Amino acid sequence: MNFKIATIDDIEKVLELHAKYQIDTINEEDKKDGFITTAFTKEQMIDLITKEQGLFIAVENERVIAYVMSACWDFWSRWPMFVYMIEDLENLEYIGQKLTTKNSYQYGPVCVDKEYRGKKVLEKLFDFARINMAKRFPILVTFINKINQRSYIAHTKKIGLEVIKEFSYNNNNYYELVYDTSKKLLD
Ligand SMILES: CC(C)(COP(=O)(O)OP(=O)(O)OC[C@H]1O[C@@H](n2cnc3c(N)ncnc32)[C@H](O)[C@@H]1OP(=O)(O)O)[C@@H](O)C(=O)NCCC(=O)NCCS
Repeated sequence: MNFKIATIDDIEKVLELHAKYQIDTINEEDKKDGFITTAFTKEQMIDLITKEQGLFIAVENERVIAYVMSACWDFWSRWPMFVYMIEDLENLEYIGQKLTTKNSYQYGPVCVDKEYRGKKVLEKLFDFARINMAKRFPILVTFINKINQRSYIAHTKKIGLEVIKEFSYNNNNYYELVYDTSKKLLD
């Protein structure tokens, strides 16, 4: 398995994996192990790759088996929920800094294909992505839907993200989480 920053040629395979676990197209029996809320177009992926170098993938036998997206807040501001999160950043403080769009970025969505879950692919890809993003930002910010317990456990217990607040948006309840990107690598 290798980890890389995705290029335009990887988009089709990433969107295939994304569709498998996105809320509108996921199989009913897979929902209990987590799902992705946000839908993406090919154009948005192109922007993420060319403007942000923010698509990180794990590849095995030419298959994309996991991805992590990460980008500055400006990239995410085309989705209303992120605008809501951006407006609230100044009310939050972490590692002695008031959060801003300059000192933090938004991590996620993230997805690991089901045969590869529980095998540390998430931890390795997380580290690969955040080491790259740490060159630009000291603080990672993300959100997890409270019904996505698998993602919550993986990110808090295994990776060590910290809950900074809880909020509701569009009748869904979320944890907002943060992470210091300069932390030592996970085992
Ligand atoms: C969320 C996700 C990235 C986590 O990666 P993972 O490799 O599955 O994580 P792990 O298996 O290492 O850890 C998950 C933990 O939750 C527990 N868990 C498993 N299924 C669970 C469930 N249905 N409900 C609650 N907890 C669950 C596991 O037991 C495990 O903890 P343990 O190893 O201590 O037992 C992956 O499951 C995934 O891609 N899901 C679909 C998409 C998604 O939800 N993405 C995140 C939202 S953007």
